[in-house]
Amino acid sequence: MLYVRAATCIHCGAEYPPRPDLTVCAQCGGVLEILYDYPRIAAALNSAVLAERRETTMWRYRELLPIEADSDTAGLRVGWSPLYPAPRLAATLGLAELYIKDDGLNPTASLKDRASALAVIKAGEAGADTVACSSTGNAASSLAGSAAARGLRSYIFIPARAPKGKVAQLMMFGANVISVQGNYEDAFRLSAEAIERWGWYNRNAAINPYLSDGKKTVSLEIAEQLGWQVPDYVAVSVGDGCTIAGVWKGFQDLYEIGLIRRLPRLISVQATGCCPINQAIEAGTEDLIPMAEDTLADSIAVGRPRNFHKAVRAVRASGGITVNVSDQEILSAMALLGKTCGVFGEPAGVTGAAGLIKALAEKKIPAGATAVSIVTGNGLKDIANAVNAAGEPLSLPPDISQLSGIITK
Ligand SMILES: Cc1ncc(COP(=O)(O)O)c(C=O)c1O
Ligand SMILES: [Zn+2]
Repeated sequence: MLYVRAATCIHCGAEYPPRPDLTVCAQCGGVLEILYDYPRIAAALNSAVLAERRETTMWRYRELLPIEADSDTAGLRVGWSPLYPAPRLAATLGLAELYIKDDGLNPTASLKDRASALAVIKAGEAGADTVACSSTGNAASSLAGSAAARGLRSYIFIPARAPKGKVAQLMMFGANVISVQGNYEDAFRLSAEAIERWGWYNRNAAINPYLSDGKKTVSLEIAEQLGWQVPDYVAVSVGDGCTIAGVWKGFQDLYEIGLIRRLPRLISVQATGCCPINQAIEAGTEDLIPMAEDTLADSIAVGRPRNFHKAVRAVRASGGITVNVSDQEILSAMALLGKTCGVFGEPAGVTGAAGLIKALAEKKIPAGATAVSIVTGNGLKDIANAVNAAGEPLSLPPDISQLSGIITK
């Protein structure tokens, strides 16, 4: 690989050549991270080069991605999602500027497409014909979709509670789906055993070190879409921790190659009923105390996050803050984003926005700040909660006189 130096263990520092089928540290079992040759990337990639580039997918940033120079990136069209200015909502909340990055507009309707698109390329480089993962739903549907687009087979393990929309996507993409009678933790354990036994390519969170590099492309896009200006804050919903770690890595990469001059602070947002990462950050420790998975935001109901350390370190390194939000606050944010911005997120998709709103109300961040809120998944995946948030329509007979009693102007 042209610009990758090695993979290193975030716990013991052991280094490994970046084989496509890398998993965890052979010495200590720790999570691996991909290291880049920044001086060489800086020599090849700058704002002028990017301005000339026509590619409007995540592969636009190929120099910053861990794929072979000749890797075929054919597949679903992932990335370059819109970054919407939200001036009215910004004014209501007291922000100088607010942008909504709608990653629910990816091909399978979540940010996870960024990780899965990379995973299927690495699977191809490894010579695998079958990929597998366990997931709360979105990683699953994104992997199944990207696998289908490239002619790979997929085995997907989901917890019983995964919303119907996500399960329908899996079936539509022809995945071999195992709905595990248990929670995400149970699905993860069964998938790990099955992957070990049948030798499938492993796209499980934290086991596959390439995923956060796919996810980091969201930050590369945000910075470029803002003309290489960096917001004061980036709000992200957090479950396993891979996404927020990826968001941080994207900004760090840009800083290292000189494309941005400062780094944003991360707002790590979890559900009050399942917030082990935020609890550790708030307690000033790096000890994981697993929690129950008690939130309607199914995608971030992760009681034992596997990317715990990467996430905790990312939030701390950014000088970031934590916010925990109730299910009611998540539903309110869903309706508010829909109503004020025309953006329809799933509960976990808008949890970052819910946290941003709460952080402003609690004066954890100053009025007049600039912020980006990443919407990580589309609301059509989970209609039951959308109806919870937005309510049912008026029902009337087809009679204008009844209507005129209701419409006042
Ligand atoms: C819509 C959505 N938002 C946020 C997250 C959180 O990402 P992570 O689990 O990597 O922290 C997920 C993960 O499944 C998700 O699907
Ligand atoms: Zn190690």
